[in-house]
Amino acid sequence: MEDILPGEVEKWQWIEKKARALFSVKRFREIRTPLLEPTELFNRAIGETTDIVHKEMYTFQDRGERFMTLRPEMTASVARSVIQHGLLKTAPSLALYYMGPMFRAERPQAGRKRQFHQIGAELVNVPEKDPEGMGGDALILCCLHDFLELLNIRYVKFRVNDLSRINGAQADKVRGQLRDYFEGHKAKLDPDSLYRLDKNVLRIFDSKIPETRALVEEVPWQDIAPLSDEFQQLCAGVKKTAGLDLEIDRRLVRGLDYYTGVVFEAASAALGAQDALAGGGRYDNLYADMGGGAVPCTGFSIGVERLLMVLEKNEPSISRQMREHSVYFVPLCQHAGSPELPVVEEAAGNLADRGFEVEVARPSLKLGDHLKRASKAGFRYVVIAGSSEIEKQQWQVKNMDQNTQDPVAFGSLLNYLVTQKGMKSV
Ligand code: HAM
Repeated sequence: MEDILPGEVEKWQWIEKKARALFSVKRFREIRTPLLEPTELFNRAIGETTDIVHKEMYTFQDRGERFMTLRPEMTASVARSVIQHGLLKTAPSLALYYMGPMFRAERPQAGRKRQFHQIGAELVNVPEKDPEGMGGDALILCCLHDFLELLNIRYVKFRVNDLSRINGAQADKVRGQLRDYFEGHKAKLDPDSLYRLDKNVLRIFDSKIPETRALVEEVPWQDIAPLSDEFQQLCAGVKKTAGLDLEIDRRLVRGLDYYTGVVFEAASAALGAQDALAGGGRYDNLYADMGGGAVPCTGFSIGVERLLMVLEKNEPSISRQMREHSVYFVPLCQHAGSPELPVVEEAAGNLADRGFEVEVARPSLKLGDHLKRASKAGFRYVVIAGSSEIEKQQWQVKNMDQNTQDPVAFGSLLNYLVTQKGMKSV
């Protein structure tokens, strides 16, 4: 588990700010749930035979001898919260988003942490097909795609699969056929997969053993669980509306049991072995299993650590993107009681509200030191206010890239900055 130190944390804030901006435009509302939940919630929602529940949860008994678990994901917590507070009694459907730490006791490696962070979205009580608009799955896929576009991340591969037959109404029959198939090749199965054959045949798909993977590769899908019409329409629909190419991968079953329809992962080659940047899918039975009635849902979660890894290698990199809108304010004055400081703080606050990265320097009269510091930290603009600027109600704005300086009236700073060459309006 890692600290996020000053210098690094600004990147997290930048990503979170972008996510909040997108979610508010798309009318998603934030939900925050406790880090700790009763273990039973995850056992039931994620599934006893999954790796997460079986091997990766941080579980302990609290002082009241109740089994408690640090949340390994948020979909189950959101469902618990929506049911507990009767949120669907006040609205026919919900669009929720969240961000925060999750915990899984996996073997740490690049892109795999024991405490990691997710940004996620859930559409609650939104069916696959919406007679009035885009179905929920298309909306959620497009939302994820839009977020990655907003961060200028390209070359993301969307892998999808259809679990509607495997986990839906015909699950018993289809799973029986899958069991028969693997029974027929029992001699080639590893011990973990033999256990899974009895408990939950789908979990054999998670195996990393080459012989087992070869068997998985050869499952006769067309006979056992052909792709549904709805799934094919979804793939064609998102291609048409968002230009989003989905790559069908029949082995993609995802490590959580609650999925009942489309499942997907967004993968980036920049990540190496752990290439999934985000994952999600449709889960129509979770609420019913938790006593919440029939509530069809779909959602996704993005791994923030992995997003940062991609953004560091991306062109433009996160630092470059943050620099585009970065402004260093310099109050040229002796101390905090001088009139320059509140004027500068108010202007910096206004720019921060508009999505700019701002920092206000400590009051001091040494302009040379301020400029050195701004240059080292990579700020694109320095806005200076000393006593003569206050008198004239005019900033001195220095462009650090071009080494130019302009006087700008107090009320025109935002306009001046957004109309600069290379500055995107926010
Ligand atoms: P998940 O695929 O388990 O799905 O996790 C989503 C993302 O979290 C992964 O694609 C990855 O980027 C990140 N992640 C997972 N484990 C780790 C780890 N140990 N270290 C770093 N990053 C990690 C879910 O959690 C579902 N709740 C997604 C969902 C939402 N399905 C429906 N709604």
